[in-house]
Amino acid sequence: MLDHGAPPHNGGPAAPHSEGLGMRLMRRKPVERLVAEGGHGEGGTLRRSLGLWQLTMISIGATLGTGIFVVLGEAVPKAGPAVTLSFVIAGLTALFSALSYAELAGTIPVSGSSYSYAYATMGELIAWVCGWCLMLEYGVSVAAVAVGWGEYLNELLDGAIGVTLPAALSAPPGDGGVFNAPALIVVLLAMAFLLGGARESARANTVMVLVKIGALVLFCAIGVQGFRSGNYENFMPLGMAGVSAAGATLFFSYIGFDAASTAGEEARNAQRDLPRAILLSLAIITALYVLVAAVAVGAKPWRQFTDSEATLAQIMREVTGQSFWGTLLAFCAVIAIASVVLTVLYGQTRILFAMARDGLVPKVFARVSPRSGTPRANTLIVSLFCGVLAAAVPLGQLADATSIGTLFAFALVNIAVVVLRRSRPDMPRSFRVPLSPLLPALGFGFCLWMMGSLSTVTWVVFGVWMAVGLVFYFLYGYRRSRLAAPAPSEAK
Ligand code: ALA
Repeated sequence: MLDHGAPPHNGGPAAPHSEGLGMRLMRRKPVERLVAEGGHGEGGTLRRSLGLWQLTMISIGATLGTGIFVVLGEAVPKAGPAVTLSFVIAGLTALFSALSYAELAGTIPVSGSSYSYAYATMGELIAWVCGWCLMLEYGVSVAAVAVGWGEYLNELLDGAIGVTLPAALSAPPGDGGVFNAPALIVVLLAMAFLLGGARESARANTVMVLVKIGALVLFCAIGVQGFRSGNYENFMPLGMAGVSAAGATLFFSYIGFDAASTAGEEARNAQRDLPRAILLSLAIITALYVLVAAVAVGAKPWRQFTDSEATLAQIMREVTGQSFWGTLLAFCAVIAIASVVLTVLYGQTRILFAMARDGLVPKVFARVSPRSGTPRANTLIVSLFCGVLAAAVPLGQLADATSIGTLFAFALVNIAVVVLRRSRPDMPRSFRVPLSPLLPALGFGFCLWMMGSLSTVTWVVFGVWMAVGLVFYFLYGYRRSRLAAPAPSEAK
């Protein structure tokens, strides 16, 4: 099925001019070529500096943040104490897809993540759709997460020195402000690290990840002292529907476990380490989430949860009777959420890098600075775009769209793993999904189930996003794809 063995040339195997539209949309990039191009950009190569530890930290860094520190408070009123079950369901959805990611990342260890897997298995149009969804998962979520960072910064300033930023400077127009300065600042800080290099960013990220894991463990140790078994008496007050609705909301907190798969071209031993990093990070994250949720609903009756941004900090304050602990947790949340911004921004730059190398987005995104071994121009453009988005747009609805886009990309990954098993059974795989195709089919089903639990408005936002993406593809990528036959006007 795959056109493996096709001789790579500058633009890859040129499609015959007589090729029909359908064939062109289905053109696939040979796996060997994807791997052979790994690391190479315009004018330089990415530096391979990341080991298993850093890759695992990248995935945890991108995942653990707003979801547990902020979204938990929104989910409890939907499910009651059974929110713990909602975390398990969302975690299972993530797990099935994580297994598929692990197999594909070990087989095609490049930076484009699911975009590249789709390109190798389902053709260019689906790959484009997947890459466009990843922009929701990464680019838009950076902006949404940066907004959450600003909210926790205010909480911290309030607790530490009794001062908060005025709304004009901490909220966008439409949310009662003029400009969200903290959201822009955190994106620019992350940009500064990324420009310094992948290894330097990974080091900073590791420190931040250790702080956030420490904060959640501390929360459990303190929160458990306020545990009342009576709070669990009516375990599922809103039934299974409530549990799955909360699960769909909480899925946001698992987004990012796949971030290691955007670092395939900077990993020292990608084939061995990527699958391990993805599965290890998901195991650590799920354990932490279920524990934190169990302690939170044990320490505070579920009806008293509100949509407050600082749920965990409030519980710490209530259990200890001291504001110090709440402020300490807000401090850790500021660090935790900053590391999500850093790693998710990193992922977005690397996905665009892969797409630019394929000609589907402008080449500037694939330019590598020979000095730092990083895509500098790409990093600057993506950071400024996300920073301005975070500073100027109220992102509530777009944040929900992040989940639907991610679920769709995950659904495609579950199909891709089965397609690649059939089309290239010969390829060496450092990890294999057990019981395939059953588990990928379950992963696909869970993703659709979660998507179905999201609101109509979210579906409309998603539909509009996809329509814009398709217009862009047909106006730009379709003609400029490096797998395309050169149009007469482009031939030199
Ligand atoms: N999973 C990431 C977070 O919760 C997006 O912040």
